[in-house]
Amino acid sequence: MSDLNQLHPDTATVAAGRPARAEQAPVNPPVVLSSTYVSTGSPDSGDLVYARLGTETWLPLEEALAALEHAELPALAFASGMGAISAALDLVPVGGEVIIPRHSYHASLVAARHLAERSGVRITEVDIAETDQVSAALTSSAQRGHAPVLWVESPTNPMLEVADLPALAEATHAVGGLVIADNTFATPLGQRPLELGADVVVHSVTKYLAGHSDVILGAALTNDASLHGQLRTRRSIGGAVAGPWEAWLALRGMRTLALRVQRSQQNAAILAEHLAGHPQVASVSYPGLPDHPQHERAAAQMSGFGSILTLRPLGAVAGAEALTRSLRLWVPATSLGGVESSLERRRRFAAEAPTVPEDLLRLSVGIEDSGDLIADLDQALQVAAQYSA
Ligand SMILES: Cc1ncc(COP(=O)(O)O)c(C=O)c1O
Repeated sequence: MSDLNQLHPDTATVAAGRPARAEQAPVNPPVVLSSTYVSTGSPDSGDLVYARLGTETWLPLEEALAALEHAELPALAFASGMGAISAALDLVPVGGEVIIPRHSYHASLVAARHLAERSGVRITEVDIAETDQVSAALTSSAQRGHAPVLWVESPTNPMLEVADLPALAEATHAVGGLVIADNTFATPLGQRPLELGADVVVHSVTKYLAGHSDVILGAALTNDASLHGQLRTRRSIGGAVAGPWEAWLALRGMRTLALRVQRSQQNAAILAEHLAGHPQVASVSYPGLPDHPQHERAAAQMSGFGSILTLRPLGAVAGAEALTRSLRLWVPATSLGGVESSLERRRRFAAEAPTVPEDLLRLSVGIEDSGDLIADLDQALQVAAQYSA
């Protein structure tokens, strides 16, 4: 693993998780379909025993993810991003405290609220880009006698707020707390939260890492052996385990991560610039635009601005809905990070935060030709504008 960490991330995505090199050895890891293993010794030895506890088809993916995040311990693959997130939230003790961005992925917020209801956990929602506000929440928690968990999403889904990860990690550790970062939007090629001070990183591998909208998978990573053990136990007991095909598909998708991210980011920058001056667009947000409130922070902390942008068309909600129906190339669908460009109005989900504007569209920019993407969006924006007063 340490050798892989020396490689450029673009190389690590290609080289990590290969079978040992030997004459006649396969270049790619095989898919092993077996629920159990021949074993006679102690099941706690770390050997393969039973596929809910571990399978060899997870291992190459877990090695590759660790290489990308520069984690010292292998990643833990989960059945979904939410599987990893639920396991990470289980690190919060009964009666503990969680500070979480008000614009986190809405299912993460729902999971945190469920924890609050059943385990007496106190949840404080914050504007994660406002470092002073988050620090004050950390101090209040410490004054109540807690070592809080700070949940970080950066950029947030869908409001694209960028958190000052190193400052927040320092403030959290100063009160004995733990930082858990959802790195789905940025990908490990865009930022490595463990190096910025996070204790645990979670991913929806479903998105950019797998990259083709054909697999649901998640992962958690940490450098801390005790946290690693707790997360592994949560996975084994909770049972949110990855299927071997899904693990294999995700690793196969990851091989082209660098190319996909490079292209989709390039497209996102072109689109953001086009939409910023567009007569039929009320507002556009992208961390790469100089007028984004945390543009400088994103430039300092990330090695790219990502491939998600948001826009509010003219025509309010009716316009936004007409726009999604009028698209021919962009796919009106939830999720993100696939090779295909897609978009959706986030408030169509009842669980979405009420502070997300009703007419806000979240765009996941894919790897198509940027001219084709612009042409399709432009004709749909014209339709939307017909709904403006
Ligand atoms: C930022 C973020 N985290 C986590 C998840 C959940 O991942 P999954 O759908 O793989 O469970 C999502 C899904 O949309 C997401 O956008």
